[in-house]
Amino acid sequence: MCGIFGIVTDKEKILGPILIEAAQRLTYRGYDSVGAATLKDNGEIDLRKDVGRVEAVSSKYNFSEMVGRRGITQLRWATFGAPSQVNSQPHLDSDGDLVGAHNGNVVNNFELRQQFIEEGLTVRSQNDGETCVHAVERYLKRGYEFIDAIRLAYGDLEGDYAFVIGRVKEDCLYAIKKGSGLVVGIGEDFTCLSSDLPSILPLTRTIIRPQDGEIITLWADRVELRSVKDGKLIQRAPELVTESMDAVQKGGYPHFMLKEIHEQPLVARELLHLLEGSQDVDNVLQQIKNARQFYLAGCGTSYHACLAGSVYFSQLAGKASIPVLAPQFIPQYAPAVDHQDVGLFVSQSGETKDVLNALQTAEKNGMTCLGLANVIGSTLTRTTSFCLPLCCGYEISVPATKTFTNQVITFLYLATRLGGGDTRQLEMIPDLMEQTIQMVAPQIESIAKSINTWNDMYTLGYGGTYPIALEGALKLKEITYAHCEGMLSTEFKHGPLSAVSDGYPVIFISGPQDVPLIVSGINEVTCRGARAIAIGEEDARLRANASDLVLIPKSTPQIAPLLAVIPLQLLSYHMSLLRGYDPDFPRNLSKTLTVD
Ligand code: AGP
Repeated sequence: MCGIFGIVTDKEKILGPILIEAAQRLTYRGYDSVGAATLKDNGEIDLRKDVGRVEAVSSKYNFSEMVGRRGITQLRWATFGAPSQVNSQPHLDSDGDLVGAHNGNVVNNFELRQQFIEEGLTVRSQNDGETCVHAVERYLKRGYEFIDAIRLAYGDLEGDYAFVIGRVKEDCLYAIKKGSGLVVGIGEDFTCLSSDLPSILPLTRTIIRPQDGEIITLWADRVELRSVKDGKLIQRAPELVTESMDAVQKGGYPHFMLKEIHEQPLVARELLHLLEGSQDVDNVLQQIKNARQFYLAGCGTSYHACLAGSVYFSQLAGKASIPVLAPQFIPQYAPAVDHQDVGLFVSQSGETKDVLNALQTAEKNGMTCLGLANVIGSTLTRTTSFCLPLCCGYEISVPATKTFTNQVITFLYLATRLGGGDTRQLEMIPDLMEQTIQMVAPQIESIAKSINTWNDMYTLGYGGTYPIALEGALKLKEITYAHCEGMLSTEFKHGPLSAVSDGYPVIFISGPQDVPLIVSGINEVTCRGARAIAIGEEDARLRANASDLVLIPKSTPQIAPLLAVIPLQLLSYHMSLLRGYDPDFPRNLSKTLTVD
């Protein structure tokens, strides 16, 4: 998700150590490259950057000796464009008079870069942070004042981002916020800004929170906010931050899991913007379309996303695909594949050994191997012929949440495009996710309390909600340590029904078109004394037959499963807490499984 930090001080001094510490405090967001720039009184810009960890890059390039009155540091989390020195940030303009860095995604990066090249500007990288610098440079060169140049650049830059920029021979930094986090800090003899509070709080606890569409100018002794619409000044009183650093890193949430559940609408929005602006999606779709057999392989939660993807490819594009647990790919399918087949290997970490083993075998057999991963720079992203990014930033909590929903959204997007559908209807997903969290939160907390004594339960789904039943069961097992099995609802009567006793919890996840089938399943268990908890859209039949109905907003048969996973994530979270466990770090488990 990248991170930016900028500081303006009252006199030229050594800024290196401040920039290094600020970068270190943003590392939790995830990154692959680091850079720093200082603007000196003699009009020089000192720019140092490369791929690698903060400690390694800053010591290799001696960041600690960097001097200036103003400084910028950036951590880059590559999305499109490989992690490389030239793509690392900050970036200079054509003449070396401006330096800037951004956090977020400029989705029309490709088109803007073409325009800048045609206009004669010097474009050095593929990175969209450089695009932000040239977007301002283009208007400065046409004679506009800095604030007006930023306002015009804002109109050109599509996507969600926050951006900081400085010019030689001035004493201020400028920034703009649009959809990405940005906080301003005010100290005794300096001001600063950052993507997030952890890099500001060691310096000052007096802050201002700019809103989207606001331009910020920082001088050492004051801060000015202006509206990007009309350039008019905005008054905003500074506030005092009183939370601890630990609470701040969790964004005010008690656990990373809850923070990451709440981040789902935000990362979904960023992902959809990125997919819409991507030049590479057509290429991926072409390969899928031409595949004789199309395999989707992953483990755990990522495998459940593959199952959901397989449903979408059939329903929306008429393309059959084979979802497979990655290790089972080797004995079951590898002997039958060759260059006519395509495999999409899915992994949050990109380092899961079971997935990499399957990938290696598939490649040996000549299959075309694509990837879908969150950690860019991971083995999966480096060894597949093309790897789509998940755009989630760091997922710290061991139970995967936001990476699951972004995996499912990627599949839904690809299937919609492959089927010739309109992807604009997917734009409602982030808002629907937000509504779902609001709608289900209190009820789920109370259900968690009432079923918490049970150490055995089932989650059942059908069609598009079957993968969600499996995913909900995995979340419950992983952090409550109770046994929970996810199944196809129609299979329950073929055996597990015998386990039902008085009050036994069975959770049904109903897609809008599957209500009659789900209602029969509900009646099968309630007549034997079970407590049937239904998750679905408002429906009189579900309301009349289930013991509890957890409502999700109305959407489509394909979007409903994506929303229905949210109450299950929250249920597992609350039950874990009620049992006195730490949901972020469940016993015996690790976030990345690099063993066979
Ligand atoms: C999910 O909550 C789990 N932590 C686990 O099942 C995970 O999804 C699995 O280990 C695969 O990891 P990956 O996506 O990084 O490959």
